[in-house]
Amino acid sequence: MKQLFTLLSLGVFACNQPTNKETAEGDWIKGTDTEQIKTIEKHFRGFDNTMVETGYRYQELYWAGLDQNWEYADYQIAKIKLAIETGLERRPKRAPSSQHFLNYVLPDMKKSVESKDTANFNKSFLTLTTNCNSCHAMEKVPFFNVQIPSERNSSIKK
Ligand code: HEC
Repeated sequence: MKQLFTLLSLGVFACNQPTNKETAEGDWIKGTDTEQIKTIEKHFRGFDNTMVETGYRYQELYWAGLDQNWEYADYQIAKIKLAIETGLERRPKRAPSSQHFLNYVLPDMKKSVESKDTANFNKSFLTLTTNCNSCHAMEKVPFFNVQIPSERNSSIKK
């Protein structure tokens, strides 16, 4: 009898365990399907998150180039492209200002990285910086004045 009781209480205990789906904070997206999608969209954010990511990757790209860590530099270019392209899906009105940057400036930066030549890298990085700022001017946010980094924060070093 005692054994049966133990078995039963184990069973009850097991049933009370949350399933994998029920995480502690899993219930915060509420409302109808449409309202839930709106909440998710809000949390994905617009172009500001894209630019925070781009700003970080721009700096990493710079130090990667100076380190001649070409694989890391190439990685950062690919992620800047992805960040901007997905950002444009969220904010298509920004697309026209980004075309020159995506179609000419980033590919030129990539070519310089592939050449593994520091002089090429520096030249393309300057062009890249100028074009960050020309998009900011076109998008009427010229106060985001991008300048070639002077302080190194990167934790990735060669
Ligand atoms: C589509 C054109 C476009 C291009 C290309 C672009 N930016 Fe931006 N950037 C913006 C816009 C628009 C904002 C303001 C975002 C907002 O208000 O949601 C911004 C804001 C920023 C911010 C401030 C983000 C924040 O919220 O703190 C940084 C940093 C930044 N950009 C860096 C860069 C760098 C570095 C490059 C080049 C590698 C670049 N941007 C290229 C359009 C662009």
